[in-house]
Amino acid sequence: MSGRLRLAVVGVGRMGAIHAETIAPMFGIDVVAVADTSPEVARAVGERIGATAYSSLSDLAARGDVEAWLIATPTTTHPAVVSTALDAGLHVLCEKPLSLDPGESESLAARAAAENRVLQIGFWRRFSPPWMLARKAVMDGAIGRPLMLRLSQWDADPPPASFCDPATSGGLAIDCGVHESDLVTWFTGLAIEHVTARNLPLVDPSLGEVGDADNLVAMIDLAGGAVATIDLSRNARYGDDVRTEILGSNGAIFVDLLPTGRARLATAEGVATIPGSETDDAFAEGIRGQAIAFVGAVRGEPVEIPSGSTSTLAVAVGRAIQESAATGQPIALAT
Ligand SMILES: NC(=O)c1ccc[n+]([C@@H]2O[C@H](COP(=O)([O-])OP(=O)(O)OC[C@H]3O[C@@H](n4cnc5c(N)ncnc54)[C@H](O)[C@@H]3O)[C@@H](O)[C@H]2O)c1
Repeated sequence: MSGRLRLAVVGVGRMGAIHAETIAPMFGIDVVAVADTSPEVARAVGERIGATAYSSLSDLAARGDVEAWLIATPTTTHPAVVSTALDAGLHVLCEKPLSLDPGESESLAARAAAENRVLQIGFWRRFSPPWMLARKAVMDGAIGRPLMLRLSQWDADPPPASFCDPATSGGLAIDCGVHESDLVTWFTGLAIEHVTARNLPLVDPSLGEVGDADNLVAMIDLAGGAVATIDLSRNARYGDDVRTEILGSNGAIFVDLLPTGRARLATAEGVATIPGSETDDAFAEGIRGQAIAFVGAVRGEPVEIPSGSTSTLAVAVGRAIQESAATGQPIALAT
């Protein structure tokens, strides 16, 4: 098929509804169907965007005119739902992480590649102008060799403890941390050698009761001596914030999400906003950008997309963060 991509959004809770409503007005994609195991949820989102609602994935999979599924079901269901889509010969854009089990993640990635299907992971920062242009500046050598990276995701408030349970969402290190771990390798291309981390369970004791923490800090040793630090929080209160700072041998890059998105380049000549990086809503831009890249990948265009293996690596880093926080020891990563 060619022309507008005929897409179904599967799982239209919190994140899936954002995807469906952000993508529906876009040129190049027809959101023809939505599906959710809750018929009321599927119907409500379907009515809002003019898409057919399904509560049975096998009924949806039997439709012959859908080319791809965007999957935003709960994390533990991703492997089964992705497999259902691949069984039906469909391309997949799956929310992060692909699986909490790196082995399962790798086998899904390998299956999609062997069957010539696109399996893209929802690492939206890679498609949001502030991060895209920051990365281009790094790749162009604007700051020299990356030496230190500081990556923060500070969410306003924690989800319910049942969601934070590492068995359900992966916990803070994986549920939130996969985005930042992915950025480390995306920005530098350097192998991750060791991970050292500490949980900071300082605010909400209910998260500790399910084995998670509301704050953590991790240090990641990269090949060649560069270091990335990741700090994650579920109690920023003022908003869901993301910041990325990279010090290079010849300058620095600062990426902000709030109050509006921008990337700044700092060199001996001064500090300046990178043209084209400013956006009121860097998150929505990232959601739109990754959907456009997905369409390109499905149509065989040479676009760079985060594959299933990028999720495998990011989850492995998250597991190393959890292991280091539990043992107090640095954990070696085989990458
Ligand atoms: N990329 C991001 O920044 C980001 C942000 C939030 C959530 N997420 C990811 O999105 C996914 C969903 O998270 P959420 O917070 O929207 O969860 P949610 O619970 O709000 O929504 C999930 C929806 O999926 C439905 N569902 C459950 N099992 C299903 C199945 N087998 N088939 C179809 N529908 C099913 C549920 O009824 C629910 O409506 C998670 O994997 C999460 O990691 C990503």
